[in-house]
Amino acid sequence: MIKTELINLIKDKRARVGVIGLGYVGLPLATEFASRGFNAIGFEVDSNKVEQINSGQSYIGDVASDSIKETVDAGRLKATTDFDDLKGCDVIIICVPTPLRKTKEPDVSFILAAAEEIKRRLRRGQLIILESTTYPGTTDEVLLPMFEETGLKLDEDFLLAFSPERVDPGNPQFKTHNIPKVVGGVTDDSTAAAACLYSQIVNDVHAVTSARVAEAAKLLENTFRAVNIGMANEMARLCYALNIDTWEVIRAAATKPFGFMAFYPGPGIGGHCIPLDPHYLSWKARQHGFDSRFIGLAEEVNSRMPEHVVQLVADGLNDDRKAMNGARVLLLGVAYKKDVDDVRESPALSIIDRLREKGCEVSYHDPFVREVRFDDSHTEGSGEPLSSVALTDDEIRSADCIVIVTNHTEIDYRRVTELAALVVDTRNALNGEVRSKSAARIIRL
Ligand SMILES: NC(=O)c1ccc[n+]([C@@H]2O[C@H](COP(=O)([O-])OP(=O)(O)OC[C@H]3O[C@@H](n4cnc5c(N)ncnc54)[C@H](O)[C@@H]3O)[C@@H](O)[C@H]2O)c1
Repeated sequence: MIKTELINLIKDKRARVGVIGLGYVGLPLATEFASRGFNAIGFEVDSNKVEQINSGQSYIGDVASDSIKETVDAGRLKATTDFDDLKGCDVIIICVPTPLRKTKEPDVSFILAAAEEIKRRLRRGQLIILESTTYPGTTDEVLLPMFEETGLKLDEDFLLAFSPERVDPGNPQFKTHNIPKVVGGVTDDSTAAAACLYSQIVNDVHAVTSARVAEAAKLLENTFRAVNIGMANEMARLCYALNIDTWEVIRAAATKPFGFMAFYPGPGIGGHCIPLDPHYLSWKARQHGFDSRFIGLAEEVNSRMPEHVVQLVADGLNDDRKAMNGARVLLLGVAYKKDVDDVRESPALSIIDRLREKGCEVSYHDPFVREVRFDDSHTEGSGEPLSSVALTDDEIRSADCIVIVTNHTEIDYRRVTELAALVVDTRNALNGEVRSKSAARIIRL
């Protein structure tokens, strides 16, 4: 039986593991398999990434170059653009992007492209696992028919499962091995083999009865975040109108030991997951005539946060009898969250666009992001790319307003508040002590 053959290969670490797409998800995963004694091959369309990996260099913050170098030197990890090597893999895991089209509909073209490469080389004895976040039904409605067109049969010849990725970039506490993994196969044999595989590298594997349940579970997790952040953002705007400290309110509510979970407001949601994934769920729901209203409402509230931040800047400048037109505004942080270099869907880009529209002279400092470009993938607007400026005393002093968009740990907020005139803090980056000693006027979200 193919399940037993695969499980034996996996348990003996003789299974060769192929990972398609070596980004924030695929690179840590391939490295983890290689570090645990498997032979791992990463398949990438970007030849620069392939070169970097094969020369032992990491381009993802959470993966140390040392781990890559060690596994590459030991011959257990390699990267390639040659998809013919898929034939030699016993397990193939797909970790390609799942963006949205301009119409906000799911774009599964990267999954289809990867699946097409697999289909051309599919052979008896392979386990295929999709990890890219996607709508329920992708694995059994889209991938399965593609693979069966080869004449090979599920369970008899190959196995197919979905296992969502939960990596949290920049989080030092939770890494691949200690984030529980949900696994759902299209068949029971597929679930069993995939669960066995992940149990080699992850402490806790949670098997579910179908790929659809696993796909839906991932979307529930991220929709839960989007909706609750939407609630926190609405609360922040409400508190601003009522002149109440939002952060103190949340801190107080969070002392309740049951029935409350703290979520925090911010300048808007970003990254490749929270702004996109709920659309995968609402799109699929619409196909079945179901209108998911919480998702729509959360998106509406969250997507208005950059506009609110710009209003806070305008209010602050106004109190100083300054116009936005011509004002020098310095953003601290453009990454979508602290201590990462990822600007995908970052609210900073929308904030910069809006400030520029009002005539502000915008600059930014971000220790992780050297340059930002304003193409269609980030914002609706366009404009000249910006490069991060050094956070010198002069730079801080000469800004009419400083906006903390990302609360990166290494920024010296005390120095900022000593030298600046006006600071808009969208992340509660300035603690009580810094605020009490601040020479700058501070406006908080
Ligand atoms: N980034 C996260 O924090 C995170 C967390 C959980 C889940 N996810 C999900 O994981 C998936 C991947 O996200 P990511 O952040 O790693 O994306 P990414 O853009 O960082 O990496 C994807 C990689 O796939 C490569 N690629 C694209 N098409 C390819 C193809 N046909 N063949 C081989 N390589 C190809 C790209 O060049 C890129 O290097 C998405 O579905 C995402 O929603 C991401």
